[in-house]
Amino acid sequence: MERIENLILIGFMGCGKTTIGEALAKQLKIPMKDTDKLIEEQQNCTIQEIFSQQGEEAFRKMETKLLLELVESKERKVLSTGGGLPLREENVALLKQIGCIIFLDVDKDTVLNRLQHDTTRPLLQGANVEAKVEELLVKRRSFYTSAADIVVNVNYASVKQIVNEICAKVG
Ligand code: S3P
Repeated sequence: MERIENLILIGFMGCGKTTIGEALAKQLKIPMKDTDKLIEEQQNCTIQEIFSQQGEEAFRKMETKLLLELVESKERKVLSTGGGLPLREENVALLKQIGCIIFLDVDKDTVLNRLQHDTTRPLLQGANVEAKVEELLVKRRSFYTSAADIVVNVNYASVKQIVNEICAKVG
């Protein structure tokens, strides 16, 4: 089967996958899809509802099932992924089949600035969000790095600069 070169954005919650994905898709004149949004549409409920009613493991299975469907898609696109999706080896293998994996590398302070008061991420609710972000970032960084074809630091750059850097790197 011919490999379709999708541009896949991975990285921690709050790294800007959606914002950058939309700008990148606009620049390249291709559609943008988001794994969280696709799962919400399929399940007809929000990510918070899935976590609270069915648990995280059920959500992780939904992510893998969605990727198996996306492997069959012939439409070239920008694909923004949930922050925990590249933690499963199986998921990374599927992402590699469908395109170029771009890791948006963000630091703790930027995440906290953006998500300190966020209510939509089940993993960042309750007390001591800073410790949660720190722990998850440390745990996940090596997964993101080893999955990535391209790494882009997003801490001190504008959306436009990041999009230009990605376009220059993917050629
Ligand atoms: C998650 C990230 C979220 C969403 C879910 C779990 C994670 O997506 O998939 O809340 O495990 O990091 P974003 O990275 O788009 O916030």
